[in-house]
Parts: sequence; C-alpha cells; structure tokens
Amino acid sequence: MSDLLNHVIKAVVDCREIMLSPYSVMEKSGVSNLVTSADKAVEEKLKTELLKILPDACFLGEEGSRTDDKTYRFVVDPIDGTANFVRNLNCSAISVGLLKDGVSVLGVVYNPFTNELYYAEKGKGAFLNGQEIKVSNRDFAHSLYYTALCIYKKELAENCLNILRDVYKQCDDFRREGSAALELCRLASGKAELYFEIRIFPWDSAAAEVILTEAGGVFKRLYAENIDMAAPFPIIAANSTGNLKKLEEIVIKEVPRLPKDYN
Ligand code: IPD
Ligand code: CA
Ligand code: CA
Repeated sequence: MSDLLNHVIKAVVDCREIMLSPYSVMEKSGVSNLVTSADKAVEEKLKTELLKILPDACFLGEEGSRTDDKTYRFVVDPIDGTANFVRNLNCSAISVGLLKDGVSVLGVVYNPFTNELYYAEKGKGAFLNGQEIKVSNRDFAHSLYYTALCIYKKELAENCLNILRDVYKQCDDFRREGSAALELCRLASGKAELYFEIRIFPWDSAAAEVILTEAGGVFKRLYAENIDMAAPFPIIAANSTGNLKKLEEIVIKEVPRLPKDYN
C-alpha cells in the first residue's frame, strides 16, 4: 500500500468519532433529502486533512465544498447513506475517491459502525480490512441485483421499476441497502453481482468505482460524456463483462437516453 493510501485511510478513519457522536438533522430539499451536522463536519475535516496530504489536488464534496479544478481531485461523500444514518441502521459510509484527469485512481469506503474498510489503488488490487477481494463468478441467473428507485427524483421510479421487473425475472434476487458506495463494494467482495442506478452523483461512486474494477468488476456510466464534475449520471456495474452487457441491454431498452428534466 502506498503512503498516499495510508494517509487517506487514516484521515477517513479519524472521522469515525464524528459519526458516533450526537448530531442535528436538517432537510436539504423535501422529506427524503436530509443532511446532518455530522455530514458537514466530516466533509470539513476531510477537506482540511486530504488537502494537507496532497496539496496539489482540488476537492469536491457533496455538501458544497468545491475548489478550483486541478489534475488530481478528491471527490468526497462525507456520509453515503444519510437516511440510514439518521435511522440508526448502521449502513452508511464515508467515501473518498481520488481522480486523476477524471479517472478514479484511489478509493476508500469506510463504514464506521461495522468497521468495514474497503480500499483500492489503480493497478494494485482491492481490499477489505487487509484481505484482497474479488468479484464472484456467478452468471446472470444466479446474480443478486442491487438497485435504487431514484429517491431524489421519484418521477424516474417508473423506469427503475420496469427495469427491476425485467432483471428480477432473470436473476436470483434483488436488494436495496441505501448506500450506493457500500452496495458497489458488495459487488467488489463477491457478495452481489449486478448494479443499476438511474441517477447517481460522482461522490456516490468515485471511490467504489476503483474498488470494484480492481476487484475484477466492470463499471459503466451511461450518457455521461463530458459531464460536469458535479452532475448526475446513470450507472451500471457487474461482476463480469457478460453480465454487464446483459444488464445494459435491459437498461437501455427502458432508458434509451437521459430522461427529460434529468438534472
Ligand atoms: C444516496 C445513497 C443511496 C442512493 C442515492 C444516493 P446519500 O446517497 O447512496 O443509496 O440510492 O442515489 O444519493 O444521499 O445518502 O449521500
Ligand atoms: Ca451519497
Ligand atoms: Ca451523502
């Protein structure tokens, strides 16, 4: 493991105390879109610590921190799974991705409640608490499908439900845990095989993308060429290129282009 990854992991794990301490909850927009004082405190701490580790990088955080573009960029979701967090479901993670020229090269996803720590660096494999992880070799029929119904834009739920109906008939079962970063890491560690989300932001997947691909999985953005760094896009991911292709065929039948009023 490189010194850089070691330092990033330390910065992430040092935020555990913030997540385990009392916090206040506010609505960002609508009942489902919450933010807590812990989200803000974790983002602020990570911005300070990560830019100390790599002063040459810029920073993009879900809760509004954004510094001027540079070749290296930290993309941070301070708490992925905030709805789980405020319900004490213990399924939330700090997600830190490092991008070089827009490509995810380092990722750390940490659930402070279970102490699951996933990490990867491009070209060096993916790990869960020190053990190398690999995707499963299950075929589509034996796959577990993770998906979401687009909680922050429920007019897209119909498309997601149609896709779920189609995939469900052909796979083993489906799940929804409420943290995209942790769910993608489930694929990386061989516990699930398929993933589709119609509208995800860079901070949800920046870390998990490199963790999944280093574990042998495949990750694809749809209709997201030349996107703004802070804009959403649909993603599909799988344990194998064959399963990704099959999932993509189902998804693009239902979503042949970015839906209207997508942003
Ligand atoms: C959300 C979670 C959820 C996913 C949403 C994300 P947040 O992140 O990852 O599983 O379906 O698209 O926005 O709001 O808890 O950081
Ligand atoms: Ca998120
Ligand atoms: Ca978040």
